[in-house]
Amino acid sequence: MPKRTLGQSGLEVSAVGLGTDAFGISVDGPTVKKIISAAIDHGITLIDTAYMYGGGKSEEYIGNSIQGRRDDFVIATKGGHPMDGGPARSNLIKELEVSLKRLKTDYIDLYQVHVLHDSRFPLEEMMQTLNDMVRSGKVRYLGLSNMYSWQLCRCNDLAEIHGWDKIISVQPHYHMFEREVESDLSQYCQWAGVGMLPYFPLAGGLLAGRYTRGEEPASDSRAGSDAWGAGMRRYFDHYGTEATYDAIEALAEFARARDHTLAQLAIAWLLHRPMLSSVIAGVSKLSQLADNATAGQWELSQDEMNEINSIIHAPRRPLPTSWDWTRKPL
Ligand SMILES: NC(=O)c1ccc[n+]([C@@H]2O[C@H](COP(=O)([O-])OP(=O)(O)OC[C@H]3O[C@@H](n4cnc5c(N)ncnc54)[C@H](OP(=O)(O)O)[C@@H]3O)[C@@H](O)[C@H]2O)c1
Repeated sequence: MPKRTLGQSGLEVSAVGLGTDAFGISVDGPTVKKIISAAIDHGITLIDTAYMYGGGKSEEYIGNSIQGRRDDFVIATKGGHPMDGGPARSNLIKELEVSLKRLKTDYIDLYQVHVLHDSRFPLEEMMQTLNDMVRSGKVRYLGLSNMYSWQLCRCNDLAEIHGWDKIISVQPHYHMFEREVESDLSQYCQWAGVGMLPYFPLAGGLLAGRYTRGEEPASDSRAGSDAWGAGMRRYFDHYGTEATYDAIEALAEFARARDHTLAQLAIAWLLHRPMLSSVIAGVSKLSQLADNATAGQWELSQDEMNEINSIIHAPRRPLPTSWDWTRKPL
C-alpha cells in the first residue's frame, strides 16, 4: 500500500483509508474487529470516524479493535456537528474527551471539525480551542470538513497571525459525480498545501457496483435496508440518474478491460486528482475492503484519465453547498 503525506504536513497516511460511518449502523462490533484486523494486513493505516457515527458506536468499536496496536493506526475523528451542538468551544472540548474515552487512546492523530457551514461562526474562538487541544498533547493535527473555502483560508490566516497550528487537511464531499470542490476549494488546497480526504468517494456504493439499473437494491445494502433511513435513499435518488447509470456502465467496462473493478477505478481516479491524500472508502464487508485496498497501486496514464473524464463529464450534478440532504428533501 503506497503511503502519502496528509497535505504538506509530516503525517503519513495510507493511500486507501477506511471510512467507518457504517460501523454501528449496518456493521456490528465483531465484524468491525475483523475489518480492522484485515485493514492493517492490507497496509490500510488511516481510519476515519466521528463523534456522531453510529451514535458513538463507531468510535467505541474502533477503540475495542485497535487495543494493543494503537500506534499502527492513524486515527482521524471529528467533533462539532450541528446536530450534536456544533463547533462551540464547550462542545468541542466535551466531544474530544468522549472520543478519547471511546477510542481508548490518549491522543487523536487528526481532529476535524465536522461541519462549519454557518458563516457567522466565530472562527477565532474555534481555532484557539483547536490550538489548545494540540498544545495539551491530546490532538496531533487539525482538519476541517464541510466548510466554505473562505473559512478554511481565514482559519489558516488566523493561525499564522497568532502562531497557532494550521489546518492540514479538509474532508469534502467528492467523487466522480460530485466535483464542486474542483471549482474553488481544491485551488486553495493546492496553493496552501492542504490535503484532501474526500468523503462518499464511492457515492455510497453507486460507484462500487452495489446497484444495478432497473433492479431492486440488495436487502443488505444501504439503499435496500432501513438502517440508513430516508436521507440515504434521497442521496441515491439524487445521484442515481439515467445519465449516471450510463456512465457507471461505461466505467465498469473500462475497469473490467483492465482486470479491475468499478470501486477500484473510482478510488484510483480520486487518487490522481490534485491534493488527494487518501481515499477513506467505507466498507461493510471484508470482501469490499480487499477489493478497495488494491486500488492504491493502480497507476492511470494521462490518456486513461482523459478517457475516464470524457465518460463522467456529462452527469455532473452537484448537490447544493448547504449539504442538508439528511434533513429535508432536495
Ligand atoms: N465529513 C463528513 O461529513 C462525512 C460524510 C459522510 C461520510 N464521511 C466519511 O467518509 C467515509 C466514506 O463515505 P461512506 O462510507 O459514507 O460512503 P462510500 O465510501 O462512498 O461508500 C461506502 C459503501 O459502498 C459500498 N462498497 C464499498 N466498497 C465496495 C466494494 N468494493 N464493492 C461493492 N460495494 C462497496 C458499501 O455499501 P454497502 O454497505 O451497502 O455494502 C459501503 O458501505 C465514511 O465512512 C466516513 O468516514 C464523512
